[in-house]
Amino acid sequence: MATAAAQRTARPQADGAAAREPADYQRVFDAAVAADERIEPRDWMPDAYRATLVRQIAQHAHSEIIGMQPEANWITRAPSLRRKAILMAKVQDEAGHGLYLYSAAETLGTGRDELLDKLHSGRQKYSSIFNYPTLTWADVGAIGWLVDGAAITNQVPLCRCSYGPYARAMVRICKEESFHQRQGYELLLALSKGTPEQHAMAQDAVDRWWWPSLMMFGPPDDESQHSAQSMAWKIKRHSNDELRQRFVDICVPQAESLGLTLPDPDLTWNEERGHYDFGPIDWSEFWDVLKGNGPCNEQRLTQRKRAHDEGAWVREAAAAYAAKHTGGAEAAAHETTGAERA
Ligand code: 3HC
Repeated sequence: MATAAAQRTARPQADGAAAREPADYQRVFDAAVAADERIEPRDWMPDAYRATLVRQIAQHAHSEIIGMQPEANWITRAPSLRRKAILMAKVQDEAGHGLYLYSAAETLGTGRDELLDKLHSGRQKYSSIFNYPTLTWADVGAIGWLVDGAAITNQVPLCRCSYGPYARAMVRICKEESFHQRQGYELLLALSKGTPEQHAMAQDAVDRWWWPSLMMFGPPDDESQHSAQSMAWKIKRHSNDELRQRFVDICVPQAESLGLTLPDPDLTWNEERGHYDFGPIDWSEFWDVLKGNGPCNEQRLTQRKRAHDEGAWVREAAAAYAAKHTGGAEAAAHETTGAERA
C-alpha cells in the first residue's frame, strides 16, 4: 500500500492507477495536514495554500533584509570593538535569514527576482517595525530585546508550520534570533545600570519601540483577514492576539529585571485570566505605516533599491561564473562520452 507521502506526490500519469479526481488530491492533502505531516515541494497542494505561503514567506524574507538597515546605521558608531563585531555578525545573520526564506519561496515556484521586484514596486509588504528610526545607540539594544523577542515569539511556532521547507528554515532562524534577543537584553542591561544619562537613553528607546513591537504581531484577530485559513492549514499555529499576549507576559518580568519601565500605565496582572492586561494599541498608526506613511518607509525602500542596483554587477558576475562552470561541466561530460566511444 502506498505511503501517505507517496500518495501525496503521486500524479495520475505516474502512479499507474486510474486518474484521480481533484477531490482525491484535496482529500490526501487535508489528511496530511490533519495528521500533522509536512507538505513538501513536490506534493500536490491547493493553489490558495501555495499563494498564502508565498505571500507570508516573501513578506518575512523582505523583513529580514530591510531589517538590516536600521541597525546597520549604528555599525560605524558602535561604542567598542566588541559591540561592533557583535552588531556586524547580527546584521549579517539577517541577510542569511533572507536567503533561507527566499530559497523556501523558490521551492513553491516563485523566483527571487520576481519577489524582489514586488518589494521594490510596493506590491509586497515587509514588517511595519522597520519603518521606525534608530535615533540612539540604545535603539540597537531595544531592537534586540523587543523586536527580535517579538520575532521569536511569532516564529517558534512556525518551526511546526505544515510546509516543510519553511518550517526547517525557521529552526535555524529561531536559534540565531534567540542569540540576537539576548545580546539586546545584555546591551540594555549595561546601559540601564550605567550612568543616569545611559539609563535615560535606554528608557527612551524602550518607550519608542514598545508599541510598534506589539504591532508586529499583526492586526487584532477580528481584523486579521488571513488568520483563520492559515491556522486551518497549520501554517500559523496561534492567532495574532494570542502571540501578542504571550509576548507581553514574557516582557513584563524582563523589564523589571532590566530596571526599565514599559510605557503603558494599564499594564496589570489579571489573576483571573492568568495574563497581563495591557492598554489599547493605536491601530490607526499601524495601518498608516502599512500604507507607506511611517517615519522611514520612503528611506527604507529607496535604500533597498539603491543597494539592489549597486549590486547588479555582483549578480552578473555570479551568473557569468555559473554559466562558465556549467559550460565546463557539459564539456567534461562530452569529453567523457567521446572517450567511452573511442
Ligand atoms: N507589518 C506589515 N504588514 C503586516 C503586519 C506587520 N507587522 N502584520 C500584518 N500585516 C499585513 C498582512 O501581511 C496582511 O496583508 P496582505 O494581505 O497584504 O499580506 C494584513 O496585514 C492583514 O494581516 P493578517 O493578520 O491577516 O496577516 P497574516 O495572517 O499573514 O499574519 C503575520 C501576519 C503574523 C506577520 C504573519 O504573516 C507571520 O507570522 N509572518 C511570518 C513572520 C514575519 O513575517 N515576521 C516579520 C517580522 S521581522 C523579522 O522576522 C526580522 C527579524 O530579524 C526581527
